[in-house]
Amino acid sequence: MTLNNEIDNLIIEFNKNIKSIDSNDIDSLNELKNKYLSRKGKLSDLFTKLGTVDSSERPIVGKKINDLKQSFSKSILEIENSFDSNPNKSSNDLIDLTLPGDSISYGTKHPITKTINEIKSIFSQIGFSVAYGPEIDDDYHNFEALNIPKHHPARDMQDTFYINTNDVLRTHTSNTQIHLMENSEPPIRVICPGRVYRNEAISIRSYCLFHQIEGLYINKNVSFSEMKGTIEYFCKQFFGEDVVARFRPSFFPFTEPSAEVDISCMMCKGKGCSMCKKTGWLEILGCGLVDPEVLKNVGYDPEIWSGYAWGMGIERMAILKYGIDDIRLFFNGNVKFLRQF
Ligand code: DAH
Repeated sequence: MTLNNEIDNLIIEFNKNIKSIDSNDIDSLNELKNKYLSRKGKLSDLFTKLGTVDSSERPIVGKKINDLKQSFSKSILEIENSFDSNPNKSSNDLIDLTLPGDSISYGTKHPITKTINEIKSIFSQIGFSVAYGPEIDDDYHNFEALNIPKHHPARDMQDTFYINTNDVLRTHTSNTQIHLMENSEPPIRVICPGRVYRNEAISIRSYCLFHQIEGLYINKNVSFSEMKGTIEYFCKQFFGEDVVARFRPSFFPFTEPSAEVDISCMMCKGKGCSMCKKTGWLEILGCGLVDPEVLKNVGYDPEIWSGYAWGMGIERMAILKYGIDDIRLFFNGNVKFLRQF
């Protein structure tokens, strides 16, 4: 068989092979490429045999083989480009750059997460670390150890979800104080964010679940004025330099003395508006010096150790800071509301 005949046969064979390749069958296409175009492929063979051709015909036959190489390569590339997942697909052929792009929708942090993060960062700057306690806890850690015995009227302040006769969904983050003190030696300087649960009627103002941040500082000779300084610092950092904090005497079973803290209303600057119910003040947290009974319950000697604690509602902080008028908005997953943060 002459080389010319071989070339003709090869064209027929190649055309037949390439037609039999299924769409997207990249493996078979690569096999075909190898078979004809690789260094040991059939076209290479033809080039080797070129030496046997009469020298007068050699340039013509050589050109024929060269043309063939180009035509085979082109056919293979066309098929390759028609495949869906071809990474080498020529973008010019397939993408219309004049089309508008797909818009990407970004998520946002939930306002409660943002508020927790901000509060954490403010306290971390003055040496407070972060700890977490259990949301399901026993009566002892949620009440008893905090100086709230059974039938104590203070239990009525917090409508409790009981899981069984002994376990509750924690009604406040104060339970974490007890776990921390039971498991570590003083000094302690920590904040404890988390969810708390209360069996309350759902309304604009209350929800069955919300978040608190507990703070606890235990050391020797801790004074009320140190606590005041810390809380005033926090209020100014969180709400703004011109905010004034006032401490009102109050009662909590686990602190003595106890106080509630109000800040001057930033809406009306203390003049009185609907936000502060015309009082000029907004209540933000409860605090006090840790009651010696609580220290005894965790095995700390109240003659040596003292401390302060506070607890604040995070929804309340976010409501005041962002001017939100309904606590339920934090929980109903309304994207229009959440996107604003
Ligand atoms: N546990 C209280 C509540 O949920 C808040 C609180 C008040 C926490 C005074 C404290 C504190 O640590 O000292 O209403």
